[in-house]
Amino acid sequence: DGDCFKYYIDGEWKRSCSGQAVTISNPSNRKPIFKVQACTQDEVNRCVESAKCAQKIWARVPLWKRAEALHRCAAIMKEQKAPIADCLVKEVAKALKDAVVEVVRSGDLLSYTAEEGIRILCEGKFLVSDPFPGNDRNKYCLSSKIPLGVILAIPPFNYPVNLAVSKMGPALIAGNAVVLKPPTQGAVSCLHMVHTFHLAGFPKGLISAVTGKGSDIGDFLTMHPGINCISFTGGCDTGIAICKKAGMIPMQMELGGKDSCIILEDADLELAATNIIKGGFSYSGQRCTAVKVVLAMECIADQLVCKVNAKLAKLTIGMPEDDCDITPVISETSANFIEGLVQDARHKGARFHQEWRREGNLIWPILIDHVRPDMRIAWEEPFGPILPVIRIKTVEEGIHHCNANNFALQGCVFTKSFDKAIMISDAMESGTIQINCAPGRGPDHFPFQGLRDSGVGSQGITNSINMMCKVKSTVMNFP
Ligand code: G3P
Repeated sequence: DGDCFKYYIDGEWKRSCSGQAVTISNPSNRKPIFKVQACTQDEVNRCVESAKCAQKIWARVPLWKRAEALHRCAAIMKEQKAPIADCLVKEVAKALKDAVVEVVRSGDLLSYTAEEGIRILCEGKFLVSDPFPGNDRNKYCLSSKIPLGVILAIPPFNYPVNLAVSKMGPALIAGNAVVLKPPTQGAVSCLHMVHTFHLAGFPKGLISAVTGKGSDIGDFLTMHPGINCISFTGGCDTGIAICKKAGMIPMQMELGGKDSCIILEDADLELAATNIIKGGFSYSGQRCTAVKVVLAMECIADQLVCKVNAKLAKLTIGMPEDDCDITPVISETSANFIEGLVQDARHKGARFHQEWRREGNLIWPILIDHVRPDMRIAWEEPFGPILPVIRIKTVEEGIHHCNANNFALQGCVFTKSFDKAIMISDAMESGTIQINCAPGRGPDHFPFQGLRDSGVGSQGITNSINMMCKVKSTVMNFP
């Protein structure tokens, strides 16, 4: 349908009976580019019902066949990288080369998930009763992992393909069904990606992709009694709201971050500057794992800032089709929010190394220096190409700043001293600390988790497969 992309239910692409559509705008020119179906609650009900039925059969499909289906899908997804990446460029303004990487990475993730599923889902436990006081050796317990049922996957706009696949792959290999609710910006990329599952021949009803307005179907989905697990990546407020509303079901949440980058006096400043640029400005800072505050020891701060500025000056700024480093941020609302943070820092006396410049949603990158704790940018997550530098007198001051924030996804420390690095990593209360490298989620089999308001549970391929299973025991009793 040239006008409006269909949603996916029961192995078919269909129009919603609402007759309504949701419009997606291109962030680069703020003009409407795609439309998707505004599905109804009734259609959500049907997706969940189909998923329930299909899951019962899928759970009994041998594990090697489930793995084979994921491998098939991985190959198709990689073949289809160009059209999917093209959608990412248009919908979320991701530079073309990064969009292609996102799709290829998703294919690789599926293949690894298939292999890891084979490795870990065949394992169970065998226990005997007599180690526990008062028991004879007259009970044998056999435990194994069984699927949870229907998984609701809600990925965010910044990695709509990869973060959907990182939920769908583990869910499916473990024998679950998936209801996918794509983000509005990124919905068409998600639908193209779902088509690769369709082509790979997954059973009808096992996977559905339901698009629509959050206000119509958002709460309805997250509170739906047929959903057995929610895997959500997105904003903190939404994540916390989902946790409060959802029932007694397992949840996996990856929310915001304000990843600190601590630079010690003995750091390799060239390496640190390279990582600050990569970590702070890739995809225009719109990554939960972006470097979002630099905490530099005062004695090396000038030298560091000078190196970062030199590298920042080389970033290309423009359109995603031209593979520019800095591309328009996702929406006008986001650009306005970023501008508000910049104005606040300016009024409170921060030093700007570059001029503020914005054209539509395109924001020129800025290093904001001499930031103090009374400025919003010291604490808030801009999701844009602006990076604050706070000068610290002691390491403790840096660690304190990192731990005083409710965000606690990742962090990093640059030093040549292994002892100091381990000591600081231990003291920084975040989900992952990188030593001498910018924060990042990958490789995708590593555990990935946020502490405090940054999330619930741990992701990464292995952890996600385990999280999407429950333990079932059979006890043999011998009188
Ligand atoms: O922002 C989402 C987060 O998962 C980013 O992933 O691989 O860029 O660190 P990555």
